[in-house]
Amino acid sequence: MQRDRHCGDGLTVRGATGSDLEAIARVAEAAGQRGEWTGADPAYVGHLLRHGRVAVASDEDRIIGFGATRGIASRGGVTSMLCDLFVNPAQHGRGCGRALLGELWPDQSAPRMTFSSQHPHALPLYTSVGLHAWWPLLYLTGDVRAVRPPAGWTVAPSAPEAVSRFEAGWTGVDRSADHHAWARRPNGTGLVAALDGRPLAAGTAAGEGEGFGLVHLASAPRLPDAQVGDSVLAVLAALGGADGHARVCLPAPHPAVRPLLAAGWRATDLDLFMATEVDLLDPRRCVPSPALA
Ligand SMILES: CC(C)(COP(=O)(O)OP(=O)(O)OC[C@H]1O[C@@H](n2cnc3c(N)ncnc32)[C@H](O)[C@@H]1OP(=O)(O)O)[C@@H](O)C(=O)NCCC(=O)NCCS
Repeated sequence: MQRDRHCGDGLTVRGATGSDLEAIARVAEAAGQRGEWTGADPAYVGHLLRHGRVAVASDEDRIIGFGATRGIASRGGVTSMLCDLFVNPAQHGRGCGRALLGELWPDQSAPRMTFSSQHPHALPLYTSVGLHAWWPLLYLTGDVRAVRPPAGWTVAPSAPEAVSRFEAGWTGVDRSADHHAWARRPNGTGLVAALDGRPLAAGTAAGEGEGFGLVHLASAPRLPDAQVGDSVLAVLAALGGADGHARVCLPAPHPAVRPLLAAGWRATDLDLFMATEVDLLDPRRCVPSPALA
């Protein structure tokens, strides 16, 4: 049976269900999260309810905050990714974010990570529960037609099953449920990039209008940095976004960042990768979704 946890000051926290979707969307919208694949999108929150954990915080039966985690299982064990944490702005600073984290991360010895916003409460809160801030994740946007395709690379559309199989073979991480969900988004498509005919990177692009772009890309182990960078450039050059516009989130040290900036792409925002251990993600190789990694 689901239990409410009383956190003082009239706050209670509990696991969310499908009947909370509307209230969660209201909190997301009040926090400026609107549109496709945000907390305001039932498809996104439904995915988290099915494959992760979603919690809501209430004040006198009114939902004022929500948060979500997703376990990412690799050969080294399960890492818990904090996908979302949002509190109605009128209620910031009264302990709601901390209460939600207590529900979602009861075990403070487990490996945990998140992409923290620059909200002044976020970094201190995550630091206090054991995470460290390691590197910035840049939100890069630009024109795919300005990206020169690197020599020898070809990119082909692919089914999410094949993309997930490549990723699992290279990294040991099964992301098939996420690749399927991303591929079901507007303009969603799986992609495999090959160098001289040999598949070396696989991922999914998706999104609407300005939100369209490369969501997640995995690459073969032991690829030299230059080829990791080229795999991202090859995939971006192959995307047909609205008016050529697309986005991708890259760790600042990723080898594709400098050539994209040189091609006129712009860093429009950044999050901070925060994690209990620095090596939960490799900033020279990963192309993560800010929500699901
Ligand atoms: C980030 C967010 C979820 C935190 O929730 P909250 O309810 O405001 O946070 P809490 O009140 O539980 O905790 C904030 C903590 O930060 C501390 N804090 C706030 N400002 C601080 C500062 N400038 N320096 C150091 N600590 C600070 C508070 O003292 C508090 O710690 P305490 O419990 O030890 O007193 C909420 O502010 C929010 O929704 N922000 C906008 C959306 C967002 O950016 N979400 C993060 C996505 S990663």
